[in-house]
Amino acid sequence: MSAGNDTAGRLDWVSRPARPLRGTLTVPGDKSVSHRALMLAALAEGDSRISGFLEGEDTRATAAVFAQLGVSIETPAPGERMVHGVGLHGLRRADRPLDCGNAGTGMRLLAGLLAGQAFDSTLVGDASLSRRPMRRVTEPLARMGARIDTHEGTPPLQIHGGQHLRGIRYELPVASAQVKSALLLAGLYAEGDTEILEPHPTRDYTERMLVAFGWPVEFAPGRARLSGGHALRATDVRVPADFSSAAFFLVAGSLVPGSDLLLRAVGLNPRRTGLLQALRLMGADIEVHDERQSGGEPVADLRVRHAPLHGIELPEALVPDMIDEFPALFVAASAARGTTVVRGAAELRVKESDRIASMAAGLRALGVQLEETPDGAAITGGAFGAGTVESHGDHRVAMSFAVAGLLAKGGVRIEDCLNVATSFPGFMELANGCGFALSEA
Ligand code: S3P
Repeated sequence: MSAGNDTAGRLDWVSRPARPLRGTLTVPGDKSVSHRALMLAALAEGDSRISGFLEGEDTRATAAVFAQLGVSIETPAPGERMVHGVGLHGLRRADRPLDCGNAGTGMRLLAGLLAGQAFDSTLVGDASLSRRPMRRVTEPLARMGARIDTHEGTPPLQIHGGQHLRGIRYELPVASAQVKSALLLAGLYAEGDTEILEPHPTRDYTERMLVAFGWPVEFAPGRARLSGGHALRATDVRVPADFSSAAFFLVAGSLVPGSDLLLRAVGLNPRRTGLLQALRLMGADIEVHDERQSGGEPVADLRVRHAPLHGIELPEALVPDMIDEFPALFVAASAARGTTVVRGAAELRVKESDRIASMAAGLRALGVQLEETPDGAAITGGAFGAGTVESHGDHRVAMSFAVAGLLAKGGVRIEDCLNVATSFPGFMELANGCGFALSEA
């Protein structure tokens, strides 16, 4: 992303209707996989090479945290990291607070991992992360014997090391891969078994990657179990392209007449691809080509062509599998014929912003008819117009309105887009390369 008005600490964009979207794109590496690869490589014995690493602010913040904890991480080339693992007990106390930036994944997983160390740590984050709920990890970690102080349930987290952790059996009250992963990482340091049961299966990257690093984990959709007392062995990790970043192009390609886009080597972990199913239910034309395995994950090339979309009642079972894709889905629904109803998605209220409120306010400003509910929305599609919207510092809200701008006669001004760099560095260039008309305001 160009520096633009970074120095003023603010970046606004304008997105305008343009030509049909065409081309072949590779979106950046998966954020969830990149975070986990760094963490496990840091705790492994030996050197691990990570390729396809997301050069986003969130994952770079996690790399900087491990550097502070005494792990040497080299960058042989952009998108590559060589991590010199220190072993399970080789981290060193940091003398300053560890800054997770905007990253909920970074902070929650680190909370579990650091709860098992012999030393104290403090985790801090930016304004958005500092508002996000942390009791969902600190409470079950406390049951394991961890001692973590929060600021009324939110960051900073003061983690008191030197505790004796014990494994627990825990039924997650909300389907959350972050909470599951935090407990599994604490479980590496715990005596006995740690077993997690989920109300709906969530992404299983932590489980798969632990196994790739040589730690035995028993897991199936909705359940994971491991015991302490093993070791992690260095291995190389290949990170697939992030489905959540591809999502903006799947929606844009569906909505803009004449479009035909090919998205290369996108990660298709079934716990991530709910939007693909939702868009198909709405009438989208998305083909999956050349399905293959890369680094132990299913990947494929996705071809999306324009198709008229219609509204749907979104099956609630899809919600956890597309939890990061609702801002993009809301834009698709705004341009679809008829009404789309979303229920059972209250978790959206505690993401990087309250995504139901952020999207509702912005879409209404463009003239979209939308009814907000506590756990979702009913969105009636049709033509919408120009307007100014606020991203609320939320990367996915900003990128979703960049997609909306493709259809809004007169364009959409999107305020506060700096955080796009947390998950999708180079979004503007990639988008403009395939036909968007996105510029700094
Ligand atoms: C993530 C899990 C999800 C998701 C987030 C990344 C992960 O959060 O929204 O962007 O990497 O485990 P929850 O587990 O809180 O739903």
